[in-house]
Amino acid sequence: MAKRSQEPHKREKWATRIGVVLAMAANAIGIGNFLRFPVQCAQNGGGAFMIPYFVAFLVIGIPLMWIEWGVGRFGGKYGHGTTPGMFHYLWNHPVAKYIGAIGIFLPFGILIYYNYIVSWTLAYSAFSFTGKYFAVPDHGQMVEFLAAFQGKVVNSHFNGSGTAILFLFITIALLTWILSRGVVKGIETVAIWGVPITFLIGGILVWKVLFLGAPDPVHYPERSIINGLGFMWNPNFAALKDSKVWLAATGQIFFTLSLGFGSIQTYASYLSEKDDVVLSGLATVTTNEFSEVLLGGFIAIPVTVAFFGIAETAVLAHSGAFDIGFCALPLIFQKLAGGQIFGTLWFFLLFIAGLLSSVSLAQPMMAFLQDEFKLERGKAALVIGGLSLFLVIPVVLFLKHGFLDEMDFWLGTFGVVIFAIVEIIIFIWIFKPKNAWKEIMIGADIKVPHFFLFIMQYVTPVYLGTLLVFWFLQDGPRVIFMKGIEPQHFPYIWFARFLLAALLFVTLVLVYLAWQRKHRIQRRIPS
Ligand code: PHE
Repeated sequence: MAKRSQEPHKREKWATRIGVVLAMAANAIGIGNFLRFPVQCAQNGGGAFMIPYFVAFLVIGIPLMWIEWGVGRFGGKYGHGTTPGMFHYLWNHPVAKYIGAIGIFLPFGILIYYNYIVSWTLAYSAFSFTGKYFAVPDHGQMVEFLAAFQGKVVNSHFNGSGTAILFLFITIALLTWILSRGVVKGIETVAIWGVPITFLIGGILVWKVLFLGAPDPVHYPERSIINGLGFMWNPNFAALKDSKVWLAATGQIFFTLSLGFGSIQTYASYLSEKDDVVLSGLATVTTNEFSEVLLGGFIAIPVTVAFFGIAETAVLAHSGAFDIGFCALPLIFQKLAGGQIFGTLWFFLLFIAGLLSSVSLAQPMMAFLQDEFKLERGKAALVIGGLSLFLVIPVVLFLKHGFLDEMDFWLGTFGVVIFAIVEIIIFIWIFKPKNAWKEIMIGADIKVPHFFLFIMQYVTPVYLGTLLVFWFLQDGPRVIFMKGIEPQHFPYIWFARFLLAALLFVTLVLVYLAWQRKHRIQRRIPS
């Protein structure tokens, strides 16, 4: 019995190195790469967006990626796959574990609505295959088609959210199944298949786009792929004076690399003590950036310009990523030779990338239930599948009242930046820069110049702090006081906030209970 306290329970470890990198890449590559990125880029200065994007990549993307891999591997050594346990060992203070609760709350909260978005992509892949939207004549009606599918309105295509709920069931069932198979047989195996499939489909679509030429040269000679690429990539340097552009670029780096969520840390906790994190972390960001910039940047926007022209694409881009993805592109597939196939492929690409990101949003809660409550894997997966199915109900019902957007704002925009700052303070400042650097460099396969520690210690947190202040001045009051939102939506938005607060509270209680349990066991088995 005495052995049990030193040897908690056997945690899984990644089976192969290529598997780790692909699993991490599958974590990072998501709907953000193929929809969020092109739309952000087009809205915020085109090619010029790449400057703040690249700066954020260097001062936030790479350093935070290494920090999160380092923190995660460190926690795994002590048998903890989530940030409460990790922070507890980094900072011997009773409050550390409660701060770490954010690293379970954020990904789980996002999972609730992310699953729903992922299920739309599966549904649209099926609709493309069967040609369901191929008779919808124009953009206005395509918007209505989407709204009816989502249950916001009723029309001849859908009378209620039944179809959407069916695809949501399928998505959550698949997610639960992958989770229940565990880290190696589930996550790693699915990533080894999923990432190459994403690249293959992405490659086919880019190739198709590049050779598209001008769809209607007689009537609209200016609508061409060349102009589409120009719209996407020609730099508008004036945009750089706008703080909004810098905020957007940094937000995109966070989102696309899954940083500040608590999810990378969990994946890294399944590394072995001496596994390299530096080169593998770099390989992950490179893979993600390749798929984001070279695949994501060459599909949705250029093709929309080629068919709709620059002016209309600009309008579409401003109404958001979903408009381009789910309304403009389906119209284009109607006009494309082989459009049903390409439509099916496009949405299937989003689905694979999205489903694997869902898995990584769910895994922190999985790890928490397994590591801290010794819940068996299959049961933990069922708990998560069941809970996410239950909690998505208000998201489905109140979509038209902005429920999803409200959750996304607090978790995906605000929460991640706060959590990243906290994490840097705990790992670099409290745990001490020297120790943090040493921790990251264990088993490193490449040498990293020491000035990266300076970046981690000062540049990254100052950059993030400044960003937060700017953000607050620019957007804070508008969002908090719901300016520009019609009063009839207020109760729903408050409900979303209440749900988030309740979820955070429950997570904190679970952390409390986990530590109670730990103390009980320690008392019973004196070491
Ligand atoms: N990086 C994912 C995307 O680009 C989103 C995500 C964030 C997934 C955090 C998992 C964890 O879509």
